[in-house]
Amino acid sequence: MENLNMDEFERAGNAIISPGFARDPYPFYAALRRNDPVHWSDKWNCWILTRYDDVRECLSDFKNFSNRGRITGLFDTYFSAEELTQLTPLIAHYSGGLINVDPPDHTRMRKILHSVFRPSTIKKLEDRIVSYVSELLDEKQAGDCLRVVEELAFPLPVKVIAEVFGVPPEDTGLFTKWSTGIVEFMQQAQPSLGVCLRSQTKLLEMREYIKVAVADRRVNPKDDVLTLMVEAEEDGNRLTEEEILSTSVTILIGGHETTTRLMATTILELERHPEQRAQLVENPDGMMVAVEEFLRFCGPFHRDQRVCKEDVVLRGKRIKKGQTVLLMLAAANRDPEAFEDAENFELSRKLNKHLAFGYGAHICLGSHLARLEMAIVIRTLLERAPQYRLAEKDVEWDYGFLRGPKEVVITFDP
Ligand code: HEM
Repeated sequence: MENLNMDEFERAGNAIISPGFARDPYPFYAALRRNDPVHWSDKWNCWILTRYDDVRECLSDFKNFSNRGRITGLFDTYFSAEELTQLTPLIAHYSGGLINVDPPDHTRMRKILHSVFRPSTIKKLEDRIVSYVSELLDEKQAGDCLRVVEELAFPLPVKVIAEVFGVPPEDTGLFTKWSTGIVEFMQQAQPSLGVCLRSQTKLLEMREYIKVAVADRRVNPKDDVLTLMVEAEEDGNRLTEEEILSTSVTILIGGHETTTRLMATTILELERHPEQRAQLVENPDGMMVAVEEFLRFCGPFHRDQRVCKEDVVLRGKRIKKGQTVLLMLAAANRDPEAFEDAENFELSRKLNKHLAFGYGAHICLGSHLARLEMAIVIRTLLERAPQYRLAEKDVEWDYGFLRGPKEVVITFDP
């Protein structure tokens, strides 16, 4: 695989949507990193970057690599003018809001949200997250099966982000349904019109719900992120309604789709690396260091995107203005030039400068929350079932901009 030539890779481009690729994309990443780190893909009509230094450089360089168009930038190449008209609301939504704009607009919005997601504020959620995890696991007895995604990794982050955001518990079901529907088009390499329209319908439903909640917070302020966005003022400016809607969707989806996949992949990898797991059981104080390795090795965000604003030459290749660049975060996180024994899962790894949360201006806003949730979940699971085993060996994977197992079933062994 290391010597895979790039024509073969292009033919194997089909493999990106195959279950085999989703199960283990890392050999492809290694081949690309080694043979053609700045790879033009005819099939995907974009550049694919796999080396750590290049990916980090692009993430830091918002002057040349823009977040505008990161989600829908390739739509022009997939759809006709008439089809694009049908997708106007989806495209309009992804043209604004925190993650879809560059500084200085981005800086203004980010300043407003910073206070809610900083470590000291997030730390206050600790007791509540501990009790949620206990609730989810309390029923389990020795020998029981735990469906990790369904019973733990999915419901927990949903509950937490819904609470932070201000969604009442009875409505969280709606959010999970919308968020799964919205993510559907982003999870596909080249989504069809039908899939995009389905995602658009869910997106519009979610936006309508948030619009009503925004109107409510204007007259009934609460202690939640939505109220903060409604009331926040920076240098005399407020967030526009459109900025609030788009950013709310990012927080609600970003707050759980990612964390769910990281939890499930980590629980699977700890089962595959019993000696590493045993060390963590012995030394739970090493948890926060281990979380960084969970992020590097199991990070769910495989494919970030930027649109090139001016022609840029990288490793001798000319990336032209308007072209899309895929930044393969998970490939960068296994780059041997950046990490010693990069393919090893090493829970005591020091100086772990992974890119799982991105880098630069858009670095993940929820990183402290995600770290806290991960630490609590893995600590609690290892306290209650330190010897857990896989109850079903075959694991099916979902692969798109996020990668994670569809389900992991374990036997709860103390
Ligand atoms: C394991 C969990 C998570 C991972 C791997 C992850 C990953 C990322 C990455 C890679 C980015 C940068 C995207 C870019 O540069 O284009 C990002 C941005 C973002 N994430 Fe996360 N995320 C996680 C959890 C969360 C949580 C819990 C929240 C909840 C608040 C969240 C909210 C956001 C937001 C709002 C942004 C946009 C920040 C900006 O544009 O300034 N994420 N995340």
